Amino acid sequence: MHLENPAIHPERTLLTIRGVTHSYREGDRLRPVLRGIDGEIGEGRFVALLGQSGSGKSTLLNLIAGLDMADSGSIIVQTFELNRLREPERTLFRRRHIGFVHQFFNLLPTLTVLENVALPGELNGFSADESRHRAVMLLDEVGLGDRHDSYPDSLSGGEQQRVALARALVHDPLLILADEPTGNLDSATGRHILDLLDHTVRRRGKTLLVATHSREVAERADAVWELCDGKLMF
Ligand SMILES: Nc1ncnc2c1ncn2[C@@H]1O[C@H](COP(=O)(O)OP(=O)(O)OP(=O)(O)O)[C@@H](O)[C@H]1O
Ligand SMILES: [Mg+2]
Repeated sequence: MHLENPAIHPERTLLTIRGVTHSYREGDRLRPVLRGIDGEIGEGRFVALLGQSGSGKSTLLNLIAGLDMADSGSIIVQTFELNRLREPERTLFRRRHIGFVHQFFNLLPTLTVLENVALPGELNGFSADESRHRAVMLLDEVGLGDRHDSYPDSLSGGEQQRVALARALVHDPLLILADEPTGNLDSATGRHILDLLDHTVRRRGKTLLVATHSREVAERADAVWELCDGKLMF
């Protein structure tokens, strides 16, 4: 792999997962989904997370983002040990350090495209001008420079996906978690988004974990993790 950002050290671990388990409760029954996950990702690396539908990919991404808590085990992102953070600290951690591209976008319907993308910048203390400037650049990169004033519900699924990606990058997060970022896109647009993700990792030195069913995404990654029966296979 060719790393273009000399400040990045792939030998330095950015994400460490140890013995993570997670079950969902349905009535009085527990449904185990993750049964002891171990893994590490070095700074500036791109890892693809594969697994059948229902294998727990979104569940694992949600735990790494601090959106949900593991039942046991530990998840450490840089110096942040998530199970030691309380809820408000986890929220701050997520807001500052994670860029999350949700499987179902989660754009705010009452904000325009430009406002949606600029918001994480403003929440992280960038000035309104700086946040807007970054948002404009990213929207150009994802090919939506002419849709600043549109509202999310007037966009196609693929366009919303691209807005969600721009929004995940605007505050320059440590770790980008993307849940099926090319799942709603035609193959040419999917390839463009994949190029953009790849570029983000290589040039800007970001670390990326992508849940995907796409072999093409997996082929571009530095490593592939496969979830099977609640465990990671390498
Ligand atoms: N909130 C919840 N309550 C109960 N069960 C849940 C909940 N969320 C997920 N599950 C179950 O946990 C399992 C893993 O779900 P998850 O969404 O992590 O799978 P996935 O690998 O992301 O699948 P897909 O490829 O379809 O997105 C599934 O069996 C799902 O039904
Ligand atoms: Mg999923």
